[in-house]
Amino acid sequence: MPTLPRLALLAFVLAAPAAADTFEEIKVDAGARLFDAECRRCHATDASDPSYGPPLEHVVGRGAGTYPDYQYSAALAGSGIVWTQAALRAWMEDNDGFMPGTKMRHVGIEDRTVQDFILAYLTSISGGDK
Ligand code: HEC
Repeated sequence: MPTLPRLALLAFVLAAPAAADTFEEIKVDAGARLFDAECRRCHATDASDPSYGPPLEHVVGRGAGTYPDYQYSAALAGSGIVWTQAALRAWMEDNDGFMPGTKMRHVGIEDRTVQDFILAYLTSISGGDK
């Protein structure tokens, strides 16, 4: 093989983005895109960005209805639950069935894989594994 194409091939392999990514990074990346498609129009990820729903930074492990100064529904504010991974799955799957009276419009994300990806992303903006 002449030298130039071999170098070009080597450069291509080294530049291939997926090669350096761990499975977790790929899940977080996919989750970020799904979050943009399904949740972002109502949820910011930090307080500096006003949004219709409460910002979701640090949501994994957070008490439900506790984001400062957000006007929650009585149902969510009084629920007393903590946003564990399991609670977030139930919420994504059928939020208004899980918590009747919430003002979040129904989202019905039933696909476990899509839930996995969004959870990986939410965990990544919550300071790691919870
Ligand atoms: C149409 C707007 C809208 C969309 C789309 C939406 N949400 Fe919400 N979300 C809200 C509102 C409004 C609330 C506050 C509900 C209440 O007070 O009852 C909320 C509350 C929440 C909470 C509770 C947070 C807390 O501080 O207790 C979580 C978690 C959440 N949403 C996750 C999601 C996820 C994940 C998605 C995407 C799969 C999503 N939401 C899509 C509007 C939306």
